[in-house]
Amino acid sequence: MSKLFICDHPLIQHKLTFIRDKNTNTKDFRELVDEVATLMAYEITRDIPLETITVHTPVAEAEARVVSGRMLGLVPILRAGLGMVDGILKLIPSAKVGHIGLFRDPQTLQPVEYYINLPTDAVSRTLIVIDPMLATGGSANAAIEALKKRGCFHLKLMCLIAAPEGIKAVQDAHPDVDIHVAAVDQHLDDHGYIIPGLGDAGDRMFGTK
Ligand code: PRP
Ligand code: URA
Repeated sequence: MSKLFICDHPLIQHKLTFIRDKNTNTKDFRELVDEVATLMAYEITRDIPLETITVHTPVAEAEARVVSGRMLGLVPILRAGLGMVDGILKLIPSAKVGHIGLFRDPQTLQPVEYYINLPTDAVSRTLIVIDPMLATGGSANAAIEALKKRGCFHLKLMCLIAAPEGIKAVQDAHPDVDIHVAAVDQHLDDHGYIIPGLGDAGDRMFGTK
């Protein structure tokens, strides 16, 4: 069973409240998502291994630690996942970025893939799949499957808000993929929207509709 991590840092929770607020305008929504993504990146990188190297300070030699192990990659699910990329890159500027284009068919709620482009060395990286919303889990599962099909097996999932249904769907299908979220909400409505959620993440991020 994959692990579920809830990033309950007070600053993340505070900012998430204003991301949810329907009166938050597009500019502020974008800025807040960017800030929360940075804070979540701090949490999601907690288990990165370190190695010891020798550095020379101005006065002595020191054994000091630097990150080691697999390099990282980010894979935002288009569109809304794009809004989290820059915030994460502020902390992990050397991460490469792939893209997966998916939209949910409004009738069937099934994900439809329309684009995929990954870094050439994606298989050797730990990839963080990014999407603000984990609702039915269909989009996240489709993205994870697309990555595994291409040989990428070191994966994590990062979302702002998840429904219990989406968490279960991902954990059932991909027990090897840990999930990091800022909040677990109540349930899905009849249209597959997370309640209380934040509405349509892509529309709020890009000012469409
Ligand atoms: C939203 C959201 C997720 C997906 C979540 O994207 O950004 O990708 O829905 O729902 P699921 O867990 O039920 O699959 P949407 O399909 O609205 O596309 P968009 O980002 O292009 O607006
Ligand atoms: N996609 C969204 O953007 N919002 C939801 O609540 C569910 C899916």
